[in-house]
Amino acid sequence: MMRIAYVEPVFRPPSEAYSLILQVTNGCSWNQCTFCEMYTQPQKKFRFKPQEQIEAELVAAVASGMPVRRIFLADGDAMSLSFRRLKLIMQSINRHLPGVQRVSSYCLPRNLKNKTVDELAELNGMGLSLFYVGCESGDDLVLQRVNKGESFATSLAALRKIKAAGAKSSVMILNGMGGTKYSKQHAVNSARLMNAAQPEYLSTLVVSFPAGEERYQRGFGGEFEALDQPGLFQEMRWLLENLELDNTIFRSDHASNYLVLKGVLGKDKARLLQTVRAALERPGSVRLRQEWMRGL
Ligand SMILES: C[S@@+](CC[C@H](N)C(=O)[O-])C[C@H]1O[C@@H](n2cnc3c(N)ncnc32)[C@H](O)[C@@H]1O
Ligand code: SF4
Repeated sequence: MMRIAYVEPVFRPPSEAYSLILQVTNGCSWNQCTFCEMYTQPQKKFRFKPQEQIEAELVAAVASGMPVRRIFLADGDAMSLSFRRLKLIMQSINRHLPGVQRVSSYCLPRNLKNKTVDELAELNGMGLSLFYVGCESGDDLVLQRVNKGESFATSLAALRKIKAAGAKSSVMILNGMGGTKYSKQHAVNSARLMNAAQPEYLSTLVVSFPAGEERYQRGFGGEFEALDQPGLFQEMRWLLENLELDNTIFRSDHASNYLVLKGVLGKDKARLLQTVRAALERPGSVRLRQEWMRGL
């Protein structure tokens, strides 16, 4: 039995379900995106975890005998750690678990501002090779409304830095984020951002408000009108129509989505668009996830 004292709740991308979660930080240093309630509880106040504690958790992981092939560095923006600290963590991982094949982390674009391509390449060489970047949108107005603290330009700069360092990025875009008013520009500008960045992975989630819409509405001056199902599908259609990707694994299968879409873009663009069109034009002809099966 592995003894790691997590500060709950802990979030990870669905694709890290079998990874060792190494909580090198607690919470999120920004914590101000109006849609995100993930780290708002008092025990999730942001802090870096001391290196000795991380080391002890790695020792516990080894002692448990559990095979560890992948590691996810939690919480919300572990990449806010300095290059020096990240290098120490990667050295510890390689020392204790030399068989690890991949280390990944969430990454806010601004986390990379103080790191050079060479530093990222060095970390990549040590195994830190995949970054989950919550771009959420490529539209500056929508990003402002939700207080992401990022823009088209800052997101693109970070994604390009990751690529230049030889690492991979997995981008999250939020379907429905601009409401009815900004739906089209959100979709078109998000596609523009992806086209410029050519990430290795792209996923879409439907924005949802388990703790209520109040904080979100304030950012929109009370004018946010959530998209209904056809509105979400239409926005997905605009996004797909405008995407010009060479080789990106696309997933819209997170539990928040009604319509599950999976493929490689661009080769599967026509097929994915056909599914979205069918959902829009012939309701009932495409299987949708039922409301009770949805979640964040
Ligand atoms: C745990 S957060 C960490 C991401 C990282 N801090 C960043 O901003 O790049 C992971 C992702 O969950 C998604 N998320 C958070 N709150 C959400 C909500 N209310 N509805 C849908 N998706 C949400 C966003 O895409 C966010 O980037
Ligand atoms: S989306 Fe990311 S940056 Fe924004 S509050 Fe949540 S964890 Fe922090």
